Amino acid sequence: MAQSQGNKVLVAYFSWSGNAKALAGQIAQASGGDLFEIKTVKAYPDTYNECIVAAREEQNANARPALSGAVADMGQYGTVFLCYPNWWGTLPMGVFTFLESYDFSGKTIYPLVTHGRSLDDIKKLCPKAAIGEGLSVSAFDTNPKDNTRVTAPHRDVTAWLRKLGLTAR
Ligand SMILES: Cc1cc2nc3c(=O)[nH]c(=O)nc-3n(C[C@H](O)[C@H](O)[C@H](O)COP(=O)(O)O)c2cc1C
Repeated sequence: MAQSQGNKVLVAYFSWSGNAKALAGQIAQASGGDLFEIKTVKAYPDTYNECIVAAREEQNANARPALSGAVADMGQYGTVFLCYPNWWGTLPMGVFTFLESYDFSGKTIYPLVTHGRSLDDIKKLCPKAAIGEGLSVSAFDTNPKDNTRVTAPHRDVTAWLRKLGLTAR
């Protein structure tokens, strides 16, 4: 439970089928950060259909599955990349356990979420189109009924259009 003293980079990841793991490896290599796997003591089933049922049950129970390892000296890290798959619309419950296990004060968390197949479906439906760089936005950032939430996506959209060179002014 140490507070932030250092400025090293930690790349923590949870991965079932390997996507988040591969991306975490790339981030660790490019940033020089230390890799840490967020692994539950109890393994998830190997087949997708069984895994989604197990994950759903854990989520419904708001479970905090025990993890099989711990970060040695969390205090040395100032930057934490957190790589995980979207499981039933949110974090796998083991990532909840991880995030509640340490004191992240003074640290910056950079989330990387990998998710389902909607982009593949666009490619299949429009095989002759070029698919440009997309923007992923959380539903909870765009609720038009809540004024406190519209600022961040507006900023994100503007930055995205600028990056694409598609701003009219
Ligand atoms: C238990 C489970 C639940 C999932 N729930 C969602 C979901 O709600 N939305 C989504 O877009 N993808 C969902 N997926 C797809 C994963 O997010 C996607 O396959 C991801 O790339 C897997 O990452 P990994 O290879 O690091 O495990 C789910 C996959 C699993 C196994």
